[in-house]
Amino acid sequence: MASPSAATSPSPASAAANLSATEANAATTTQAPKKTKLHGRAFYESIGSPKYIVAPMVDQSEFAWRMLTRSFLPAEEQHTLLCYTPMFHARLFTEAPKYRDSHFQPIRGPLTADSPRPGSPDYVPFLDGNPEIDRSLFVQFCANDPAYLLSAAKLVAPYCDAVDLNLGCPQGIAKRGQYGSFLQENQELIFELINTLHKELDIPVTAKIRILDTKEATLKYAQNVLRAGASILTVHGRRREQKGHQTGLADWEYIRYLRENLPKETVIFANGNILQHSDLEKCLETTGADGVMSAEGNLSDPGLFARSPAVGEEGREYWRSKDGRRGGWRVDAVLRRYMDIIYKYVLEQEPPARRPLFMPGDDVAWLEEATSSTSTETTTTQTNNNSDEPPRKKHKSANGTASTPSTTTTNNPHLDKKALQTSPNLVSMQPHCFHLLRHFVTTHTDVRDLLARARNGSEIAKYEAILSQVERKVAQGLLEYERTGGSSFDVDVLETLIKETEDSQNDPESSAKARRENKRPWWVVQPIIRPLPKEALAKGALQLSKKELKAQAAKKAAGGGAGVVAAAGAAAAAAGVAVASVFGETGAKKEEKKDEKGEVKKTTEEAPVPVQGENGAETAVESLETTTSYPKSELVSG
Ligand SMILES: Cc1cc2nc3c(=O)[nH]c(=O)nc-3n(C[C@H](O)[C@H](O)[C@H](O)COP(=O)(O)O)c2cc1C
Repeated sequence: MASPSAATSPSPASAAANLSATEANAATTTQAPKKTKLHGRAFYESIGSPKYIVAPMVDQSEFAWRMLTRSFLPAEEQHTLLCYTPMFHARLFTEAPKYRDSHFQPIRGPLTADSPRPGSPDYVPFLDGNPEIDRSLFVQFCANDPAYLLSAAKLVAPYCDAVDLNLGCPQGIAKRGQYGSFLQENQELIFELINTLHKELDIPVTAKIRILDTKEATLKYAQNVLRAGASILTVHGRRREQKGHQTGLADWEYIRYLRENLPKETVIFANGNILQHSDLEKCLETTGADGVMSAEGNLSDPGLFARSPAVGEEGREYWRSKDGRRGGWRVDAVLRRYMDIIYKYVLEQEPPARRPLFMPGDDVAWLEEATSSTSTETTTTQTNNNSDEPPRKKHKSANGTASTPSTTTTNNPHLDKKALQTSPNLVSMQPHCFHLLRHFVTTHTDVRDLLARARNGSEIAKYEAILSQVERKVAQGLLEYERTGGSSFDVDVLETLIKETEDSQNDPESSAKARRENKRPWWVVQPIIRPLPKEALAKGALQLSKKELKAQAAKKAAGGGAGVVAAAGAAAAAAGVAVASVFGETGAKKEEKKDEKGEVKKTTEEAPVPVQGENGAETAVESLETTTSYPKSELVSG
């Protein structure tokens, strides 16, 4: 098979020649005694046989997010949650120190082949892969050149447990760069990439694939990946075409088929369709996989992997409805945890001293006082970027006196203003907050506007102002819930959803059931249910391509249904779940994208998309693309 990358990529030999002497030395420099390299199930068991896995997510599975997700588990279980870093570009990681250091920070200062490693006397762990707090960790790369992949992998190997190859990214940028799912047609190159790491790297290699058109083809693909030396195979149960509004459902039956047809000792992770905690076990049971990975469900609820507290043991952070049937982590609690992680590990400051999280029954004097000053605070926030700190949010300095959190003060000498701007943990804060507060900001649009202006986490005072607003609105929501005996919680919405569910009971292409089951009040983090393709089509958010329209017309003429949409429906039926794709719709209207070099570039809103209405008329609808809340990096949805 000819390599599609041959024309666009340098050969492995020339790639190696391009590396700087220091980086090429990565192959030979060893400062710590080599550990025995384990493979497959033995390796899996050596890291505690993790069942739950935080997916690789560009700009979103960074250190602070992993810490937040782990924080919901009991201390003794935190290391058994396996996390993946975001996908990094192997060539850029090898060649561009700036790219590398603004994405992966296992030590203070620049990462090179000569950097101190665990076991060497001068090794001082920093954030990524810190053995005390950030393991188990797999680092993911995209690549189409074994030499670049190997050199990048060697740089990270001392600081992680395995290196993963992304074979699932379906985005345009991956098509142009010939990586991710666009390597599917080149099984020889896939073999070579994995096999190079299998033979040359000190730690195991793993791979994450999407399913192909048939079970048999997917099995052959999986066998190739495993034969090449992958220790663990992650299967995202969607095809390459299933992205954006076409995302639809992952097909767990394909994963089950692989489980049944691959040797027992093969370690398989299943990926797709996880909206809430109970889906995790459902997925393991249905697929027979060893572990289950979540991306979007985890972004909506970082407590997804944790068991919810027992009835009566909710504490202040967890909310449970009066009838005991619905519960979830409070948005104010999650936001506090997240911010405190940012202060502690990234800014290296004491977090502000905070009052206990509000519970009905507590003194409400602060709330009344705060309410009367809200308008002034909000105005200040809008007009003065640096003095928008709410009252009572003061830092305790070393001598115990209060001080104001600053946008630039940090004890980390490496975090000068520029470093703050590009810190992966601070860059990711705004999209994370939009995701966490997705349901909250639908009700409280003033907070959405504040968040839209808080572009970078280095503007920490803006985030304090947001937290302050969130805390008081949650307190008001909880008080109202009590005052109305529980009926203030979206009764109308629930009734509509129940009606919709009844109407669509036998329709596998309806998301109504999932929306009803997952509905929580706005003060609780919860999944974002994205319409299934048929619904997106009906809403005008999805436009069929000419090819798909032709195929649909041909099918209709032959008496069949709509192919693209039917495929998702069939997957739904096969997976035995109602719906499991999510989509954020509210957020800043201008988005940031990063180009190949990792530079941030601004993109403007997309123009409304003309859509064919049911009666054939062309209707202009606003593209949902303009209001997506999470980062519009083209690399998402691997
Ligand atoms: C924001 C975002 C970023 C993603 N980035 C990556 C990535 O870097 N590498 C990758 O393999 N998959 C990436 N994906 C895909 C997820 O890892 C996962 O395969 C996909 O979202 C399906 O899982 P889910 O149904 O739990 O969301 C990304 C997904 C999201 C939502």
